[in-house]
Amino acid sequence: MVSTANDLNGQAVAMRWHGDRLELLDQRLLPGEEKWLTTQRASEVAQCITDMVVRGAPAIGITAAYGVVLAARYAGGGDWQAEIKQAIRELAASRPTAVNLFWALERMETVFHGCHSLAEALERLDAEARRIHEEDVAGNQAMADYALDVMQPESPISVLTHCNTGALATGGYGTALGVIRRLHEKQLLDRVYADETRPWLQGSRLTAWELARDSIPVTLNADGAAASILASGKVKWVVVGADRITANGDVANKIGTYSLAVLARHHKVKFMVVAPSSTVDMALAEGRDIPIEERDGAEVREMGGRQLAPAGIRVFNPVFDVTPANLIDAIVTEKGAVHNPNITGMNALFG
Ligand code: MRU
Repeated sequence: MVSTANDLNGQAVAMRWHGDRLELLDQRLLPGEEKWLTTQRASEVAQCITDMVVRGAPAIGITAAYGVVLAARYAGGGDWQAEIKQAIRELAASRPTAVNLFWALERMETVFHGCHSLAEALERLDAEARRIHEEDVAGNQAMADYALDVMQPESPISVLTHCNTGALATGGYGTALGVIRRLHEKQLLDRVYADETRPWLQGSRLTAWELARDSIPVTLNADGAAASILASGKVKWVVVGADRITANGDVANKIGTYSLAVLARHHKVKFMVVAPSSTVDMALAEGRDIPIEERDGAEVREMGGRQLAPAGIRVFNPVFDVTPANLIDAIVTEKGAVHNPNITGMNALFG
């Protein structure tokens, strides 16, 4: 196995931009194989997002932005504006829940509308995509600082996390996993409990892989073990990411997040959501307005080609759920924290 996924201070990265091509680490193959896919067309980039080659809300947004640049670079010489618009439509249709995708595409579209030639568009779109990427990494560092201000740990604590919110899910460093990294850097982390995160196993395949390769102490647990872990009193905070946060502070995140929030409240464990402000969608009033992606039942029925359930059995496979704001102790972004989120607190920071 050739390990090449270590471009950002030794940490894994999800994407590498070369101006004329975008390389994506194929996250479907981790942790067994580190294979990079090269994309040169916006349609290939859209397909990679749909197929989960790259996933995680901020990473999807950044990837889509680079997809728009590829549309400009390889525009056929005819109606380049129509080609770029079509690419933006295709990228927007790749996944429905993470608002970072639409936020990034809107930024790219605004730049594109101000351009008078293809050469100008190519230069300015490339610069904008790189900016989106760089801002994401810087934002992750800022939110880690805010999160530690909220937590105020006096000695090393243990936390529990769900899904993957690390370098692989972002431009680098991570959101909730960035907070975990920062705790570790400051010697304030005892241990991370990582939910395996059925059915796609982002926790066991990606989070455990990222943490282990960075020597951060991690214990992997089946999702169903989270209740016992929280009941044991070992964990001070549940720390998760988000795919979309509405104006009242409701949070869509990986399926299973809502049950963790209920458990945390029952066991008096604090619950923190960490996400960039690009995940906040003030245009939606509440969580029930968020489009929740449902994926193929085969993701639950099968694993690695092995049948886990009777062939053809009916499956319910929503890949996100909504945690109501009243179960959340703090939403932390690069702009600061909203404690006990509600519409007033959200408006004060994002209105
Ligand atoms: O289906 P995925 O793997 O794209 O879902 C990812 C999540 O739910 C993450 O928790 C969320 O996108 C935040 S990533 C920083």
